[in-house]
Amino acid sequence: MTSKIAVIGTGYVGLTTGACFAHLGHDVICADIVPEKIDRLRNGDVPIHEAGLTELVQEGLDTGRLSFVLGAEHAVGEAEFIYLCVPTPQSADGSADLSYLQSAAAEISPHLQPGAIVVNKSTVPVGSTRLVEQAMRRSDIPVVSNPEFLREGTAVDDFLNPDRVVIGADDQAAAGRVAALYLGVRAPVMVTDPASAETCKYAANAFLATKLSFTNAIAAVCEAVGADVNDVLLGMGYDHRIGHEFLRPGPGWGGSCFPKDSRAIISIAEDAGYDFALMRGVVTVNDEQFDRIVRKVGSVVPLEGATIALLGLAFKAGTDDTRESPALAVARRLVAAGATVRGYDPAVTEVDVDGLEVVDDAYAACDGANALVIATEWDDFKWLDLDKIADAMADKHIVDARNLLDRGAVKRRGFTYQGVGRS
Ligand code: UGA
Repeated sequence: MTSKIAVIGTGYVGLTTGACFAHLGHDVICADIVPEKIDRLRNGDVPIHEAGLTELVQEGLDTGRLSFVLGAEHAVGEAEFIYLCVPTPQSADGSADLSYLQSAAAEISPHLQPGAIVVNKSTVPVGSTRLVEQAMRRSDIPVVSNPEFLREGTAVDDFLNPDRVVIGADDQAAAGRVAALYLGVRAPVMVTDPASAETCKYAANAFLATKLSFTNAIAAVCEAVGADVNDVLLGMGYDHRIGHEFLRPGPGWGGSCFPKDSRAIISIAEDAGYDFALMRGVVTVNDEQFDRIVRKVGSVVPLEGATIALLGLAFKAGTDDTRESPALAVARRLVAAGATVRGYDPAVTEVDVDGLEVVDDAYAACDGANALVIATEWDDFKWLDLDKIADAMADKHIVDARNLLDRGAVKRRGFTYQGVGRS
């Protein structure tokens, strides 16, 4: 059954949601407040690096099921469902800033037809469904929570093949209608109340961040006792209650979600009277991980005056997003210790970090460098010509913060090698 859907906000969540719903056969209008973005999208020019999204946007434009307009009020007039996918950035105190959400709700409210359902997909503190209801002042319009669990880089696949769809609503009929939008998707659909749906999103991200901090802490234990973290995690992961996924040690976790949502759940809990000490520890372990990587570099070369090659700037492979990137956290610390950093990333051409120069080739980044740090797990870095790198560098030291390289091959060429949780 085809439904008319409006999507407010064309960031990676909104655009993926819109393009995927159009792919599932719905009629979708996406709105944004940035005119250039709308112009580009109307021409099929997708401004973000997201696998399969350009193809889906083009498909939607070709079939006429996907269109783009400037301004939310122009998208919602005939919509049966209005998905709010606006940013909820972190405010100075760690809590989520809901001003975009509230103003979007207030803006669309007078234009909604009776029977429309507003669906919140932005990640919002518990209770925000109520705030949207209050901002809309329309008792005839149900507001439903339908949190997103998309990963950047694989958002399209995550939307079309999700592990689950979570719907939070007080109005069971509205929940059923939202569930019906996902008829083309094979996944368990769970209906609960709004507060539980909102908490579920934070709890999932907080748990995943905890798993990663635990992994990096075990890597530190492995370094201390002389064990190999890759083997330790392999052995652990065979226990099906633990599993092998999300157990890759690294330079710390980052991105636009985990850091923000981890701090937000601490703040949500605190406001509600619970000291989430475990989660505070998870964040602390992550900050320490950036320092640990820098100390590894400092253990082989004096940082003052050194030139460090940094391969990888994005917060993970498969994206051009550098928000809260561990690579940049490491770069800032290296610069603060007096080093000059030369970075390369296959998807990132510029970053705003003093003392970090971005070059357009991995070998150029290594030219004359005293040490090389692998900070993002791009496949390309696995296949680098190590002989060429050895020739280019002034000193042969590698800190492989993603355990990506073949350490035997690295050592055979005379490099010192330090991984994470393995030597
Ligand atoms: C994360 C969640 O995985 C999604 O389920 C969620 O929907 C999304 O946040 C969100 O809230 O919107 P994302 O931020 O795209 O997705 O990134 P992840 O793939 O989860 O990676 C987060 C960080 O953890 C990255 O820095 C990554 O390099 C790191 N990581 C991940 C590791 O260091 N090791 C791993 O094994 C996995």
